[in-house]
Parts: sequence; C-alpha cells; structure tokens
Amino acid sequence: MSRPTGFATRAIHHAYDPQDHEGALTPPVHLTSTFAFDSAEAGGEMFAGERQGHIYSRISNPTCDLLEQRIATLEGAEAGLALSSGMGAVTAVLWTLLSPGDQVIVDMTLYGCTFAFMQHGLAKWGITITHVDMTDLDNLRAAMTDKTRVVYFETPANPNMRLVDIAEAAQIAHEGGAQVVVDNTYATPYLTRPIELGADIVLHSATKYLGGHGDVVAGLVAGRAEQVAEIRLVGMKDMTGAVMAPFNAMLVLRGLKTLNLRMDRHCASARTVADYLAAHPAVRTVYYPGLADFPQRDIAERQMDQPGAMIAFEVEGGMAGGIAMMNRLRMIHRAVSLGDAETLIQHPASMTHSTYTPEERAEHGISDGLIRLSVGLEDVEDILSDLDQALPGPVRYAAE
Ligand SMILES: Cc1ncc(COP(=O)(O)O)c(C=O)c1O
Repeated sequence: MSRPTGFATRAIHHAYDPQDHEGALTPPVHLTSTFAFDSAEAGGEMFAGERQGHIYSRISNPTCDLLEQRIATLEGAEAGLALSSGMGAVTAVLWTLLSPGDQVIVDMTLYGCTFAFMQHGLAKWGITITHVDMTDLDNLRAAMTDKTRVVYFETPANPNMRLVDIAEAAQIAHEGGAQVVVDNTYATPYLTRPIELGADIVLHSATKYLGGHGDVVAGLVAGRAEQVAEIRLVGMKDMTGAVMAPFNAMLVLRGLKTLNLRMDRHCASARTVADYLAAHPAVRTVYYPGLADFPQRDIAERQMDQPGAMIAFEVEGGMAGGIAMMNRLRMIHRAVSLGDAETLIQHPASMTHSTYTPEERAEHGISDGLIRLSVGLEDVEDILSDLDQALPGPVRYAAE
C-alpha cells in the first residue's frame, strides 16, 4: 500500500510539474491582468462557466491557482482561495456567508481589525454579532438561535492565546444549522487542521507564518469546492475585490516550502522562552499552550501538534512595566505582525487591539499590561539574553 505524501513534500511539489513549464523548477509568476481567448465564442463559454480557463486576474490567475491548490492540500480541504490580505480573507468570507438579519456568533477575543470589521462592517448592515466566551462551549450552545449562520473564532486567539475546541464547536454549530469559520493564522496547518476536526472554512493571514519572511501581505481561505467558488465570485470578485497579486502568490509559495522547518524551530525556541519567562520573578503571568499550568492544556494536546510560537505575558508593573521593558530591548524589534524570522514584540492595548475601546478590552479579556511576543528564528540564546537584559532585576540568563 502506498503511503500518502507527507506535509513537507506537498508544500514543495503539490500540483506543479516542471515539465509543463519548459522545465522551470520554480513555478513561473504570471504577471498578467487579462488572458487572451482562442475565439470570441471561447470567451463567452468561459464567462458562462461552460469552459475552463482564466479570464481576468481578479477572478483567477495561474500563480495564485497553484498557491490555492497548495493551501487546500495542506489544510485537507477541497479547494483554496488566495486574497490580498488576511482581512481580505475575513471580509470576503463573511460578506459571502452572511445576509442582513443573520446572526454570527464570535469568540470574545479576536484580532483587532477583525473585531472592528464586525462592529463597523457587519453590524452596520443588519447582522447581529454575538460575542461569547468560547473557552466554555455551553456559552455557544446557549447563544445559538434559528438566525445563527456562522460561528467564528481564532484558536489560539490573538492576542491572549485562548483556545477553542474546534471539534466540539463544530458539532454544536452544525446541530444548529450554522457553519464554522476558523482563523488558523496562529497555528498554521502544520500544527492544526481545523477542517479535519469539522470546521467548514479555514482562513489565514498568510502575511504571518505561511509567507514567513515579513515581505508580503496576503490572505488564504480553504474549504469545500462549491463554497470556495462562491467566496471567489461573490466575496472576492464582486464585493471586496481583495485579489492577491501573482508576485505575492510566488512569495507565499516560497514561504510554504519551509513552513514545517520554520515552525519546528519557532516552536522549540518558544518553549524555551516561555519556560524562561515563567520562571522570571519580574514576569507576572505567561500565556503559552505548552506550559504545564496553561488552563486549556488538554485542548492544546488534542488539536495542536505543537503549542505554537506566540507567547503573551504580563510583567510586574502592568502597562508601564511592559512598555519600559519593550523600550530596553536591543535585538527584538518592536513591531506588529508575527510569524517572521525576526522576533517581534508589541503591546496589543495600544497597537493591534486599539480598535477596542478600553471598556471593550476589559470585557473581552485583553488586559492593558499584556505584551505579545512572536518568537523568531534567531539563536534562542540571543532571544533569551535580550529579554533578560530588558527585564528588571539581576541578570538571570548569561549566554555561554
Ligand atoms: C489572527 C489574525 N487574523 C487576521 C489578520 C489580518 O491579516 P492581514 O494583516 O494579513 O490583513 C491578522 C493580522 O495581524 C491576525 O493576526
């Protein structure tokens, strides 16, 4: 019996044969806005959906098409879709799935701009947004109504690392006739495959680990073929126009080739950094799914192959203490975004999650003192020694 092709092999080879492209080992970048038809009739047939082929790059493009096939295979989905950004993915999916009068149930904690889109975008068009604490799925059960069309969450959630049990959430949503959309940006398909656990649609900010090098803003979606086709034609082509540029698709394709290697290294370093922070007297709390006292450790073990490489923590002295520590860092960059080779640190309350009012942040579990760390690919000794010299108190870590 033949073994199924592994994750890394599919990330490198899936859906591409150099012999179809004059032997080019690396897929060509199709920098074209439009495509010439064989005949006027052929063009008409393509528009009518009677003939396969590319029409115009706001609908499809061969370089994006390859990336779409790659994310689909990595997520265990039938089809994928490439979009201009993670927010392009969020908005194209939700505009397609929801109509006025519908209800979407979302977790308490969301990336700041996703939260803002719910409040300023969806709510404005008569869609009811119900935030529930999905760390206890009885809250989801209780919030379901006959108007619930979508259940939406991030796991781990940006920025406070809360996890949602995907399989159980999917079961509750499906019993109530709703679909489940999971933002898998933090975990990537290398660590968690929500569709295998029952989710209907997965989306990503591919700007993060999938691109992996901090040089592209991009979004991806994966799901059932028919539904992805609808998101392409309604959410992407008509409603948002949030199309990925072919050159950006090439950058994400390149990033995917090393996703497994980078994630292994990111995760190994993050475990070491989380242990160091947890033992530091100037650090009040550390939120990392790999720590023994992480409250949702059981969910992490069930649905994450490794605990990821994002850490949230609070230092003594609250917000002022955290900001002072950030300002003392020498190598680690103070920057938003995550999943890059560089270790990045940011302060959600004043940066990525400043779209929430202070009252909303308090209600949604985003404390003012919370610091978010994206552990990069540098030598872990250098990450530790930079944190060590920035944290108050005597030197605790000395690189050999
Ligand atoms: C979890 C999550 N989802 C979505 C987004 C939006 O992605 P993008 O910045 O690519 O639009 C981000 C960006 O930080 C994110 O962290």
